[in-house]
Amino acid sequence: MTIETARDLHGLLAVGRVVRGTIAAMAVRLRPGITTAELDAVALEYLTREGARSAPMIEVGYPAATCISVNEEAAHGLPGARLLAPGDLVTLDVAAELSGYYADAAITVALPPITPAQQRLCTCAEAALQAAIQVARAGQPLRQIGRAVEGIARRHQCRVVRELTGHGIGRRMHEAPRSVPNFDDPRATMPLAEGVVLAIEPHITLGSGQLENSADAWTIRTRDRKRVAVFEHTIVVTAREPIVVTA
Ligand code: CO
Repeated sequence: MTIETARDLHGLLAVGRVVRGTIAAMAVRLRPGITTAELDAVALEYLTREGARSAPMIEVGYPAATCISVNEEAAHGLPGARLLAPGDLVTLDVAAELSGYYADAAITVALPPITPAQQRLCTCAEAALQAAIQVARAGQPLRQIGRAVEGIARRHQCRVVRELTGHGIGRRMHEAPRSVPNFDDPRATMPLAEGVVLAIEPHITLGSGQLENSADAWTIRTRDRKRVAVFEHTIVVTAREPIVVTA
């Protein structure tokens, strides 16, 4: 969506706060010995208490409230009986709807012990998101976002998972632009409009970045079983620094 009124901005900021709060509530409970289903229940309870709904649940019939992707799971990790263990890399991805507005955010947390390679991967993904946010300005072509992400990935000797992209958001979970690439895609020439709402989500890996589906029909993992880190925010593009809705 494109933000046009103060009411739109308020609605978006309100759902952004709920998304952030949900991730924080999950992060507090995150430890070895908890199952991903238990973490998902924490999220569902938080969302419900805030009067919000899980966006993937209402939009695509997803059978859980959140996506929790562990280690080589790159996206849409379906919560279940999996027990988290020391050394796991856990992505908490929450998209929610409140009063007709949608926001989407994610963090990756490494459970100790943390190897230097895991640390580099997480640092890279977080820095890539920050760099992307910095260049997302009105008038800039969409491809600048991916160019910034790719530059950070290269600097950390990591790779972008090219198939997984950000997206427009706001009144639905997925809106135009359908794809916000995490690499310098020459097709992404569209200039960013003032007020446009984007979910930016660089998926960074230590491997090739090739993906495959798993048996549960939702979880996507890397073919080479290398790990993936993701940081995501929902932003509003302006002529200056974007408004980070989920910060
Ligand atoms: Co997203």
